[in-house]
Amino acid sequence: MTPDVRPLVAGNWKMNGTRDALSQIKAIAEGVSGPLSQKVEALICPPATLLYVSTALATDSPLSIGAQDCHQAVSGAHTGDISADMIADCFGTYVIVGHSERRTDHGETDALVRAKAEAAFAADLTAIICIGETAEERQAEQTLQVLKRQLLESVPDAASAENTVIAYEPVWAIGTGLTPTAEDIKIAHQYMRDDLVARFGGEGKKIRILYGGSVKPSNAAELMAIDNVDGALVGGASLKSADFLAIYSAYETLLA
Ligand code: 13P
Repeated sequence: MTPDVRPLVAGNWKMNGTRDALSQIKAIAEGVSGPLSQKVEALICPPATLLYVSTALATDSPLSIGAQDCHQAVSGAHTGDISADMIADCFGTYVIVGHSERRTDHGETDALVRAKAEAAFAADLTAIICIGETAEERQAEQTLQVLKRQLLESVPDAASAENTVIAYEPVWAIGTGLTPTAEDIKIAHQYMRDDLVARFGGEGKKIRILYGGSVKPSNAAELMAIDNVDGALVGGASLKSADFLAIYSAYETLLA
């Protein structure tokens, strides 16, 4: 945790969820409607096909809804893509950019991720910019250099605590059940914090830095308690409302 920073527990549904899954959005919206919502924000990023109906379901709850990617352009001939404006038009308030699966599956570069984050800012969305090292980079002890490069090249100069969230997701920890040790996460998050403060000053102190990669109800409390871990970006365990709510509820004890 970081002093005076409101944690964010975010779910990335990836390419999962048809209309049947809307019952999970409804249950999550209800489940996060208690007093903890004053202190901890909750977000679900369903697939784009469910975005509009999800925001409608979450209207009267503190649950935020976001998208998983946007194109860098405002509009145009880009078959299959969606723009940040389209997300805002569906009442989405966040967009994930630069997830490692997009970097791998679609060859997205740091420069492209930065352009996407800038498009998100222009549409008044908050960009969740994902960074993280691969297994090979970790073995070569390059984790901190990779994070430094990705922060420098993927995060726009206009980043602020309002429009930007960083998600540290070690690629090798995604969907594997593996996580770094608490000490490794602490070192990585402190490093990112120092880097953000050096570049953005006071704003850098408040930009939320999430941890992602195999976050589950059983490890959430330990992970969320680490210095400079300001929440989680949850994949698989966000698909079931009970698991997502259990992760969110880890803050009941942490903030008690
Ligand atoms: P898992 O929680 O399934 O490991 O996925 C993490 C992730 O990639 C979230 O963006």
